[in-house]
Amino acid sequence: MVPATPGLRVSTPDPERSLPSADIEVDRAAAAEFLELFHAENPEAGPVGPRIAAVMREIDMTGTYWHTPEELTFGARVAWRNNARCIGRLYWRSLQVRDLRTVSDAAGVARHCFEHLRAANNGGKIRPMISVFAPETPLRPAPRIWNEQLIRYAGYEQPNGRVLGDPRYRTFTSQLIQRGWRPPEPLGAFDVLPLVVETVDEGPQMFQLPGQAVHEVPLEHPELAWFAELGMRWHAVPVISNNRLVIGGVSYPAAPFNGWYMGTEIGARNLGDSDRYDLVPTVAERMGLDTSHEATLWRDQALVEINRAVLHSFRANGVTISDHHTESRRFLTHLEREERAGRRCPADWSWIVPPMSGSQTPVFHRYYDAEHRVPNFFADDEAAGRALQGGPPAFRGPRVLAR
Ligand code: ARG
Repeated sequence: MVPATPGLRVSTPDPERSLPSADIEVDRAAAAEFLELFHAENPEAGPVGPRIAAVMREIDMTGTYWHTPEELTFGARVAWRNNARCIGRLYWRSLQVRDLRTVSDAAGVARHCFEHLRAANNGGKIRPMISVFAPETPLRPAPRIWNEQLIRYAGYEQPNGRVLGDPRYRTFTSQLIQRGWRPPEPLGAFDVLPLVVETVDEGPQMFQLPGQAVHEVPLEHPELAWFAELGMRWHAVPVISNNRLVIGGVSYPAAPFNGWYMGTEIGARNLGDSDRYDLVPTVAERMGLDTSHEATLWRDQALVEINRAVLHSFRANGVTISDHHTESRRFLTHLEREERAGRRCPADWSWIVPPMSGSQTPVFHRYYDAEHRVPNFFADDEAAGRALQGGPPAFRGPRVLAR
Protein backbone atom coordinates (compact mmCIF):
# COMPACT_ATOMS: atom_id res chain seq x y z
CA MET A 1 0.00 0.00 0.00
CA VAL A 2 1.39 3.40 -0.95
CA PRO A 3 -0.46 6.07 0.99
CA ALA A 4 -0.78 9.38 -0.75
CA THR A 5 1.62 11.51 1.25
CA PRO A 6 2.80 14.95 0.24
CA GLY A 7 6.18 14.78 -1.43
CA LEU A 8 5.46 11.60 -3.31
CA ARG A 9 5.71 12.05 -7.07
CA VAL A 10 3.27 10.42 -9.43
CA SER A 11 5.14 7.95 -11.59
CA THR A 12 4.53 8.03 -15.33
CA PRO A 13 1.76 5.53 -16.03
CA ASP A 14 2.95 2.34 -17.68
CA PRO A 15 0.93 1.98 -20.92
CA GLU A 16 1.29 -1.82 -20.68
CA ARG A 17 -0.81 -1.94 -17.56
CA SER A 18 -4.46 -1.19 -17.55
CA LEU A 19 -5.50 0.07 -14.16
CA PRO A 20 -9.19 0.79 -14.56
CA SER A 21 -10.25 4.08 -13.02
CA ALA A 22 -7.13 4.22 -10.83
CA ASP A 23 -4.84 6.41 -12.89
CA ILE A 24 -7.20 9.38 -12.77
CA GLU A 25 -6.52 12.39 -10.62
CA VAL A 26 -8.97 13.32 -7.88
CA ASP A 27 -11.43 16.00 -8.95
CA ARG A 28 -10.35 19.22 -7.23
CA ALA A 29 -13.82 20.78 -7.21
CA ALA A 30 -15.24 17.65 -5.53
CA ALA A 31 -12.48 17.76 -2.92
CA ALA A 32 -13.06 21.45 -2.18
CA GLU A 33 -16.84 20.99 -1.99
CA PHE A 34 -16.48 18.20 0.56
CA LEU A 35 -14.00 20.14 2.68
CA GLU A 36 -16.40 23.12 2.71
CA LEU A 37 -19.17 20.82 3.94
CA PHE A 38 -16.95 19.22 6.57
CA HIS A 39 -15.84 22.56 7.97
CA ALA A 40 -19.36 24.03 7.81
CA GLU A 41 -20.80 21.15 9.84
CA ASN A 42 -17.75 20.81 12.13
CA PRO A 43 -16.86 24.34 13.24
CA GLU A 44 -14.35 22.97 15.79
CA ALA A 45 -12.18 21.90 12.83
CA GLY A 46 -11.28 25.55 12.25
CA PRO A 47 -11.22 27.55 9.01
CA VAL A 48 -11.43 25.62 5.74
CA GLY A 49 -8.99 27.80 3.75
CA PRO A 50 -5.70 26.31 4.94
CA ARG A 51 -7.03 22.77 4.61
CA ILE A 52 -8.19 23.33 1.01
CA ALA A 53 -4.80 24.82 0.13
CA ALA A 54 -2.99 21.82 1.65
CA VAL A 55 -5.23 19.34 -0.17
CA MET A 56 -4.70 21.11 -3.52
CA ARG A 57 -0.92 20.89 -3.02
CA GLU A 58 -1.28 17.20 -2.15
CA ILE A 59 -3.30 16.60 -5.32
CA ASP A 60 -0.64 18.48 -7.34
CA MET A 61 2.02 16.15 -6.03
CA THR A 62 0.25 12.81 -5.77
CA GLY A 63 -2.91 13.03 -7.81
CA THR A 64 -4.97 12.34 -4.70
CA TYR A 65 -5.15 13.22 -0.99
CA TRP A 66 -5.45 11.49 2.33
CA HIS A 67 -8.53 12.28 4.44
CA THR A 68 -7.95 13.07 8.10
CA PRO A 69 -9.62 10.46 10.34
CA GLU A 70 -12.28 13.07 11.19
CA GLU A 71 -12.98 13.76 7.50
CA LEU A 72 -13.22 10.04 6.81
CA THR A 73 -15.67 9.45 9.66
CA PHE A 74 -17.81 12.42 8.72
CA GLY A 75 -17.67 11.52 5.01
CA ALA A 76 -18.83 7.96 5.62
CA ARG A 77 -21.70 9.12 7.86
CA VAL A 78 -22.83 11.70 5.30
CA ALA A 79 -22.65 9.09 2.54
CA TRP A 80 -25.23 7.15 4.54
CA ARG A 81 -27.27 10.31 5.20
CA ASN A 82 -27.32 11.00 1.44
CA ASN A 83 -28.25 7.50 0.32
CA ALA A 84 -31.72 7.86 -1.18
CA ARG A 85 -32.53 4.14 -0.96
CA CYS A 86 -32.17 3.73 2.79
CA ILE A 87 -35.17 4.06 5.12
CA GLY A 88 -32.99 3.60 8.23
CA ARG A 89 -31.06 6.86 8.14
CA LEU A 90 -32.32 8.35 11.42
CA TYR A 91 -29.23 7.00 13.18
CA TRP A 92 -26.68 8.16 10.59
CA ARG A 93 -24.56 9.90 13.24
CA SER A 94 -24.08 6.63 15.12
CA LEU A 95 -22.22 4.89 12.26
CA GLN A 96 -18.98 3.42 13.61
CA VAL A 97 -16.17 3.93 11.15
CA ARG A 98 -13.21 1.53 11.11
CA ASP A 99 -10.27 3.24 9.45
CA LEU A 100 -8.49 0.41 7.62
CA ARG A 101 -7.02 2.50 4.82
CA THR A 102 -3.57 0.93 5.25
CA VAL A 103 -5.02 -2.56 4.59
CA SER A 104 -4.74 -3.46 0.91
CA ASP A 105 -3.83 -7.18 0.65
CA ALA A 106 -6.55 -9.77 0.06
CA ALA A 107 -5.95 -11.75 3.27
CA GLY A 108 -5.87 -8.57 5.35
CA VAL A 109 -9.13 -7.33 3.84
CA ALA A 110 -10.80 -10.71 4.48
CA ARG A 111 -9.56 -10.91 8.09
CA HIS A 112 -10.84 -7.42 8.87
CA CYS A 113 -14.19 -8.21 7.19
CA PHE A 114 -14.61 -11.17 9.52
CA GLU A 115 -13.71 -8.96 12.48
CA HIS A 116 -16.28 -6.42 11.19
CA LEU A 117 -18.97 -9.12 11.29
CA ARG A 118 -18.11 -10.01 14.90
CA ALA A 119 -17.99 -6.38 16.01
CA ALA A 120 -21.16 -5.36 14.16
CA ASN A 121 -23.09 -8.34 15.51
CA ASN A 122 -22.16 -7.31 19.06
CA GLY A 123 -23.91 -10.28 20.67
CA GLY A 124 -27.15 -9.47 18.83
CA LYS A 125 -27.28 -5.75 19.63
CA ILE A 126 -26.32 -4.79 16.10
CA ARG A 127 -24.12 -1.75 15.55
CA PRO A 128 -24.21 0.18 12.26
CA MET A 129 -20.60 -0.01 11.07
CA ILE A 130 -18.36 0.56 8.06
CA SER A 131 -14.82 -0.69 7.38
CA VAL A 132 -12.92 1.54 4.97
CA PHE A 133 -10.07 -0.22 3.18
CA ALA A 134 -7.36 1.29 0.94
CA PRO A 135 -8.61 3.96 -1.50
CA GLU A 136 -8.15 4.09 -5.23
CA THR A 137 -4.93 6.04 -5.99
CA PRO A 138 -3.09 6.91 -9.20
CA LEU A 139 -0.28 4.60 -8.08
CA ARG A 140 -2.36 1.62 -7.15
CA PRO A 141 -5.96 0.55 -7.62
CA ALA A 142 -7.87 -0.35 -4.49
CA PRO A 143 -8.87 -3.89 -3.50
CA ARG A 144 -12.30 -5.14 -4.60
CA ILE A 145 -14.73 -7.37 -2.75
CA TRP A 146 -16.73 -9.38 -5.25
CA ASN A 147 -19.57 -10.48 -2.96
CA GLU A 148 -22.70 -8.37 -2.76
CA GLN A 149 -22.73 -8.83 1.01
CA LEU A 150 -20.19 -10.40 3.37
CA ILE A 151 -22.70 -13.16 4.18
CA ARG A 152 -24.69 -14.62 1.29
CA TYR A 153 -26.09 -18.10 0.71
CA ALA A 154 -25.04 -20.33 -2.16
CA GLY A 155 -27.56 -21.39 -4.81
CA TYR A 156 -27.01 -24.76 -6.48
CA GLU A 157 -28.63 -25.68 -9.76
CA GLN A 158 -30.12 -29.12 -9.43
CA PRO A 159 -30.71 -31.71 -12.15
CA ASN A 160 -34.49 -31.06 -11.97
CA GLY A 161 -33.86 -27.42 -12.91
CA ARG A 162 -34.70 -26.10 -9.46
CA VAL A 163 -32.21 -24.28 -7.26
CA LEU A 164 -31.19 -25.41 -3.79
CA GLY A 165 -30.44 -22.30 -1.71
CA ASP A 166 -30.59 -18.70 -2.92
CA PRO A 167 -31.30 -18.59 -6.67
CA ARG A 168 -29.94 -15.02 -6.79
CA TYR A 169 -26.44 -16.47 -6.44
CA ARG A 170 -26.71 -19.51 -8.70
CA THR A 171 -24.19 -18.15 -11.26
CA PHE A 172 -21.91 -16.67 -8.60
CA THR A 173 -21.92 -20.05 -6.83
CA SER A 174 -21.13 -22.10 -9.94
CA GLN A 175 -18.31 -19.68 -10.88
CA LEU A 176 -16.75 -20.04 -7.43
CA ILE A 177 -16.98 -23.81 -7.68
CA GLN A 178 -15.13 -23.55 -11.01
CA ARG A 179 -12.51 -21.44 -9.25
CA GLY A 180 -11.98 -24.21 -6.75
CA TRP A 181 -14.47 -23.58 -3.94
CA ARG A 182 -15.57 -26.83 -2.33
CA PRO A 183 -19.11 -26.47 -1.01
CA PRO A 184 -20.03 -28.35 2.19
CA GLU A 185 -21.30 -31.93 1.98
CA PRO A 186 -24.19 -32.49 1.79
CA LEU A 187 -25.25 -29.29 -0.01
CA GLY A 188 -27.71 -27.16 1.96
CA ALA A 189 -30.12 -24.29 1.37
CA PHE A 190 -28.11 -21.95 3.65
CA ASP A 191 -24.44 -22.60 2.84
CA VAL A 192 -22.42 -19.43 3.38
CA LEU A 193 -20.42 -18.48 0.28
CA PRO A 194 -16.71 -17.73 0.63
CA LEU A 195 -15.56 -14.12 0.46
CA VAL A 196 -13.78 -13.18 -2.77
CA VAL A 197 -11.23 -10.37 -2.47
CA GLU A 198 -9.35 -9.21 -5.55
CA THR A 199 -6.23 -7.06 -5.63
CA VAL A 200 -4.20 -5.99 -8.63
CA ASP A 201 -1.18 -8.03 -7.47
CA GLU A 202 -2.92 -11.15 -6.22
CA GLY A 203 -5.96 -11.54 -8.45
CA PRO A 204 -9.17 -12.90 -6.92
CA GLN A 205 -8.65 -14.88 -3.71
CA MET A 206 -11.31 -16.87 -1.82
CA PHE A 207 -11.70 -17.00 1.95
CA GLN A 208 -14.06 -19.26 3.90
CA LEU A 209 -15.89 -17.32 6.63
CA PRO A 210 -15.02 -18.53 10.14
CA GLY A 211 -17.99 -19.84 12.12
CA GLN A 212 -17.73 -17.09 14.77
CA ALA A 213 -18.23 -14.44 12.08
CA VAL A 214 -21.60 -15.83 10.97
CA HIS A 215 -24.56 -15.32 13.28
CA GLU A 216 -27.86 -16.72 12.09
CA VAL A 217 -31.41 -16.91 13.36
CA PRO A 218 -33.44 -20.12 12.87
CA LEU A 219 -36.99 -19.10 11.95
CA GLU A 220 -40.04 -20.17 13.93
CA HIS A 221 -43.54 -18.76 14.11
CA PRO A 222 -45.18 -17.51 17.34
CA GLU A 223 -48.25 -19.76 16.81
CA LEU A 224 -47.75 -22.07 13.82
CA ALA A 225 -45.62 -24.85 15.33
CA TRP A 226 -44.90 -26.47 11.94
CA PHE A 227 -43.12 -23.35 10.67
CA ALA A 228 -39.84 -24.35 12.34
CA GLU A 229 -39.89 -27.62 10.36
CA LEU A 230 -39.42 -25.65 7.14
CA GLY A 231 -35.79 -25.29 8.22
CA MET A 232 -35.61 -21.60 7.31
CA ARG A 233 -32.97 -19.31 8.77
CA TRP A 234 -31.34 -15.98 7.98
CA HIS A 235 -28.13 -14.19 8.86
CA ALA A 236 -28.29 -11.47 11.52
CA VAL A 237 -26.25 -8.72 9.83
CA PRO A 238 -26.62 -7.41 6.26
CA VAL A 239 -23.17 -6.05 5.27
CA ILE A 240 -23.20 -4.58 1.75
CA SER A 241 -19.72 -5.11 0.39
CA ASN A 242 -19.65 -4.15 -3.30
CA ASN A 243 -20.60 -0.47 -3.20
CA ARG A 244 -18.02 2.26 -3.77
CA LEU A 245 -17.84 4.93 -1.09
CA VAL A 246 -16.99 8.32 -2.60
CA ILE A 247 -15.89 11.17 -0.34
CA GLY A 248 -14.64 14.46 -1.75
CA GLY A 249 -13.58 12.89 -5.03
CA VAL A 250 -11.72 9.97 -3.41
CA SER A 251 -13.07 6.48 -4.15
CA TYR A 252 -13.09 3.63 -1.66
CA PRO A 253 -14.33 0.61 -3.63
CA ALA A 254 -13.86 -1.72 -0.64
CA ALA A 255 -15.89 -0.22 2.21
CA PRO A 256 -18.37 -2.80 3.52
CA PHE A 257 -21.12 -1.31 5.72
CA ASN A 258 -24.13 -2.51 7.66
CA GLY A 259 -27.17 -1.44 9.60
CA TRP A 260 -29.73 -3.84 11.04
CA TYR A 261 -32.48 -5.61 9.15
CA MET A 262 -36.01 -4.39 8.65
CA GLY A 263 -38.12 -7.58 8.75
CA THR A 264 -39.65 -7.22 5.29
CA GLU A 265 -36.21 -7.39 3.63
CA ILE A 266 -36.05 -11.01 4.74
CA GLY A 267 -39.72 -11.99 5.05
CA ALA A 268 -41.16 -10.23 2.01
CA ARG A 269 -38.19 -10.21 -0.39
CA ASN A 270 -35.44 -12.76 0.40
CA LEU A 271 -37.90 -15.48 1.42
CA GLY A 272 -40.97 -14.21 -0.43
CA ASP A 273 -39.78 -13.32 -3.94
CA SER A 274 -40.57 -16.08 -6.43
CA ASP A 275 -37.02 -15.83 -7.81
CA ARG A 276 -35.52 -16.09 -4.31
CA TYR A 277 -36.59 -18.67 -1.68
CA ASP A 278 -40.20 -18.57 -2.96
CA LEU A 279 -41.72 -19.55 0.38
CA VAL A 280 -45.23 -18.13 -0.08
CA PRO A 281 -46.85 -21.12 -1.87
CA THR A 282 -45.35 -23.60 0.62
CA VAL A 283 -46.55 -21.63 3.65
CA ALA A 284 -50.00 -21.07 2.12
CA GLU A 285 -50.37 -24.79 1.60
CA ARG A 286 -49.25 -25.62 5.16
CA MET A 287 -51.75 -23.03 6.42
CA GLY A 288 -54.47 -24.80 4.45
CA LEU A 289 -55.42 -21.66 2.50
CA ASP A 290 -57.59 -21.75 -0.58
CA THR A 291 -55.07 -21.18 -3.38
CA SER A 292 -57.50 -22.01 -6.17
CA HIS A 293 -57.84 -18.38 -7.16
CA GLU A 294 -55.99 -15.12 -6.45
CA ALA A 295 -58.98 -13.33 -4.95
CA THR A 296 -58.73 -15.36 -1.72
CA LEU A 297 -55.57 -13.28 -1.10
CA TRP A 298 -53.75 -16.42 0.04
CA ARG A 299 -50.44 -14.85 -1.01
CA ASP A 300 -51.02 -11.85 1.22
CA GLN A 301 -52.08 -13.99 4.18
CA ALA A 302 -49.08 -16.30 3.87
CA LEU A 303 -46.72 -13.34 3.43
CA VAL A 304 -47.90 -11.80 6.69
CA GLU A 305 -47.22 -15.03 8.60
CA ILE A 306 -43.71 -15.37 7.12
CA ASN A 307 -42.98 -11.81 8.19
CA ARG A 308 -44.37 -12.42 11.68
CA ALA A 309 -42.06 -15.43 11.93
CA VAL A 310 -39.01 -13.33 10.96
CA LEU A 311 -39.73 -10.55 13.48
CA HIS A 312 -40.64 -13.03 16.22
CA SER A 313 -37.52 -15.18 15.70
CA PHE A 314 -35.03 -12.30 15.64
CA ARG A 315 -36.62 -10.87 18.75
CA ALA A 316 -36.64 -14.23 20.53
CA ASN A 317 -32.95 -14.64 19.70
CA GLY A 318 -32.05 -11.18 20.98
CA VAL A 319 -31.00 -9.92 17.52
CA THR A 320 -31.84 -6.32 16.56
CA ILE A 321 -34.51 -6.02 13.86
CA SER A 322 -37.27 -3.51 13.18
CA ASP A 323 -40.70 -3.74 11.60
CA HIS A 324 -41.70 -1.60 8.63
CA HIS A 325 -44.23 0.48 10.56
CA THR A 326 -41.71 1.57 13.18
CA GLU A 327 -38.95 2.13 10.62
CA SER A 328 -41.29 4.24 8.45
CA ARG A 329 -42.14 6.51 11.37
CA ARG A 330 -38.45 6.85 12.21
CA PHE A 331 -37.74 7.86 8.65
CA LEU A 332 -40.29 10.68 8.82
CA THR A 333 -38.63 11.84 12.04
CA HIS A 334 -35.33 11.81 10.16
CA LEU A 335 -36.85 13.94 7.37
CA GLU A 336 -38.12 16.48 9.91
CA ARG A 337 -34.72 16.67 11.59
CA GLU A 338 -32.93 17.15 8.29
CA GLU A 339 -35.35 19.88 7.33
CA ARG A 340 -34.79 21.60 10.68
CA ALA A 341 -31.03 21.42 10.06
CA GLY A 342 -31.62 23.24 6.78
CA ARG A 343 -30.80 20.27 4.59
CA ARG A 344 -32.71 18.52 1.85
CA CYS A 345 -32.97 14.77 2.22
CA PRO A 346 -32.85 12.79 -1.01
CA ALA A 347 -35.11 9.74 -1.03
CA ASP A 348 -36.28 7.28 -3.67
CA TRP A 349 -39.96 6.45 -3.13
CA SER A 350 -39.65 3.07 -4.85
CA TRP A 351 -36.97 1.99 -2.35
CA ILE A 352 -38.33 3.70 0.76
CA VAL A 353 -41.87 2.29 0.67
CA PRO A 354 -41.83 -1.19 2.25
CA PRO A 355 -42.61 -4.20 0.03
CA MET A 356 -45.76 -5.10 1.96
CA SER A 357 -48.65 -3.04 3.34
CA GLY A 358 -47.18 0.09 1.76
CA SER A 359 -50.26 2.24 2.30
CA GLN A 360 -50.34 1.28 5.99
CA THR A 361 -47.02 3.10 6.46
CA PRO A 362 -46.76 6.90 6.49
CA VAL A 363 -43.85 6.93 4.00
CA PHE A 364 -46.27 5.86 1.24
CA HIS A 365 -48.38 9.00 1.34
CA ARG A 366 -45.93 11.58 0.05
CA TYR A 367 -43.16 12.27 -2.45
CA TYR A 368 -39.51 12.97 -1.85
CA ASP A 369 -36.62 15.08 -3.02
CA ALA A 370 -34.88 12.98 -5.68
CA GLU A 371 -31.76 15.09 -6.06
CA HIS A 372 -28.44 13.24 -5.90
CA ARG A 373 -25.87 14.28 -3.28
CA VAL A 374 -22.29 13.37 -2.44
CA PRO A 375 -20.62 11.86 -0.40
CA ASN A 376 -22.52 8.70 -1.25
CA PHE A 377 -22.36 4.99 -1.96
CA PHE A 378 -22.33 3.98 -5.60
CA ALA A 379 -23.53 0.65 -6.96
CA ASP A 380 -21.26 0.48 -10.02
CA ASP A 381 -22.58 -1.69 -12.85
CA GLU A 382 -19.31 -3.57 -13.03
CA ALA A 383 -19.27 -4.40 -9.32
CA ALA A 384 -22.99 -5.22 -9.35
CA GLY A 385 -22.41 -7.61 -12.27
CA ARG A 386 -19.47 -9.31 -10.56
CA ALA A 387 -21.53 -9.93 -7.44
CA LEU A 388 -24.05 -11.93 -9.48
CA GLN A 389 -21.88 -13.37 -12.27
CA GLY A 390 -18.78 -14.23 -10.19
CA GLY A 391 -16.52 -12.36 -12.62
CA PRO A 392 -14.89 -11.13 -14.73
CA PRO A 393 -12.00 -9.95 -12.53
CA ALA A 394 -11.57 -6.18 -12.15
CA PHE A 395 -7.88 -6.29 -13.10
CA ARG A 396 -6.64 -8.14 -16.11
CA GLY A 397 -3.06 -7.04 -16.57
CA PRO A 398 0.31 -8.82 -16.63
CA ARG A 399 0.46 -8.50 -12.86
CA VAL A 400 -2.61 -10.60 -12.21
CA LEU A 401 -1.56 -13.97 -10.90
CA ALA A 402 -3.60 -16.96 -11.92
CA ARG A 403 -4.72 -19.06 -9.01
N1 ARG B 1 -32.09 -6.04 1.45
C1 ARG B 1 -30.78 -6.58 1.66
C2 ARG B 1 -30.90 -8.00 2.18
O1 ARG B 1 -31.78 -8.52 2.54
C3 ARG B 1 -29.98 -5.77 2.65
C4 ARG B 1 -29.83 -4.30 2.31
C5 ARG B 1 -29.38 -3.47 3.48
N2 ARG B 1 -30.32 -3.54 4.56
C6 ARG B 1 -30.18 -2.94 5.75
N3 ARG B 1 -31.11 -3.11 6.62
N4 ARG B 1 -29.13 -2.21 6.04
O2 ARG B 1 -30.12 -8.80 2.40
